[in-house]
Amino acid sequence: MTEKDFIPQSYQRELIGGSITWQAPSNIALVKYWGKKEPQIPANPSISFTLDSCRTTTMLEFKKKETADKNITFELYFEGKKKEDFKPKIKSFFKRIEAYCPFLTDYQFVIKTENSFPHSSGIASSASGMSALALCVMSLEKELNPDLSEGYFNKKASFLARLGSGSACRSIEGELIVWGKHKNIENSSDLFGIKYPYKIHKVFQNYQDTILLVDKGTKQVSSSLGHNLMEDHAFAESRFEQAHRNLDKLRGVFETGNLKGFMEIVESEALTLHAMMMSSNPYFILMKPNTLEIINKIWAFRENSGLPVCFTLDAGANVHVLYPEKDAGKVFEFIKNELVAYCENEQYLCDRIGNGAKRIDN
Ligand code: PMV
Repeated sequence: MTEKDFIPQSYQRELIGGSITWQAPSNIALVKYWGKKEPQIPANPSISFTLDSCRTTTMLEFKKKETADKNITFELYFEGKKKEDFKPKIKSFFKRIEAYCPFLTDYQFVIKTENSFPHSSGIASSASGMSALALCVMSLEKELNPDLSEGYFNKKASFLARLGSGSACRSIEGELIVWGKHKNIENSSDLFGIKYPYKIHKVFQNYQDTILLVDKGTKQVSSSLGHNLMEDHAFAESRFEQAHRNLDKLRGVFETGNLKGFMEIVESEALTLHAMMMSSNPYFILMKPNTLEIINKIWAFRENSGLPVCFTLDAGANVHVLYPEKDAGKVFEFIKNELVAYCENEQYLCDRIGNGAKRIDN
């Protein structure tokens, strides 16, 4: 598929107004996306677990304009209050998707959005937020064109979400999503995420992710800036090749349930992501001392207990602790007794692999 396939030709119906609500999850990458080209084309393919309870709920109210104009007009409420400072990001998202959703200028919108996780938790809400909004826009398109197939709907929702925030394209469906062209993954695309198409061993069912909130402040370096710094990064090419190789290796891991192999790839990916930040120009560090304390504790616990618990990181100081459901009792005891003390205000979130976004108003 190409971008052109997402430009609608005509609409079958007319709508005066209504509202649509979607709940979309966050996701955590196992092979990381870090580096991009315009327009949000990833420099390497990535794969993520879709999460379950870290979600954004977004309601899109729409009303046909009395007189047509060329502007996209909307009001935005976050957790019940008008939020002017979120508007520029949504405005540029709408601008980027307008060519694919020309009906946007026909309506006036009110967007009401909220997260299931605390706003100042250091958890990026852009993936769940942009995917929830993209899904609302797609449901509006489906009301105008009821014949859209489910496959096209999900692909285009992922395509639109990507234009809002790259990793958001992996938050439409569950449970494992690949985004970015990889020669050995059929139908993989730089334009949208696809469900991982090969066998997944049952040990990964309900895989657990406990998110340790090490630092809830805002990041000193945004991920957009970080992506851009990969452009003339000394290690860029070998990093991008490594991501392709890690995806190849994961295929065997997912098929056989080889958790040792899984943990090696996932932890190496997390540390490589941060190594790229530390070796870019200018360089920066997003981990905090407690991030490293937690990593060392996890390694010591794994050595002593023999349990398959590992970590991954996103572009921040928080630590995602990953482990199979069958070991949840013992690992959770360890987390409570030994890791929670390193979190800001002892805060953490319990999550697991999820099935993807849900429309919740019908
Ligand atoms: O989607 P963005 O631009 O916020 O970038 C996300 C990048 C990482 O979270 C660090 C990695 C990933 O693949 O999600």
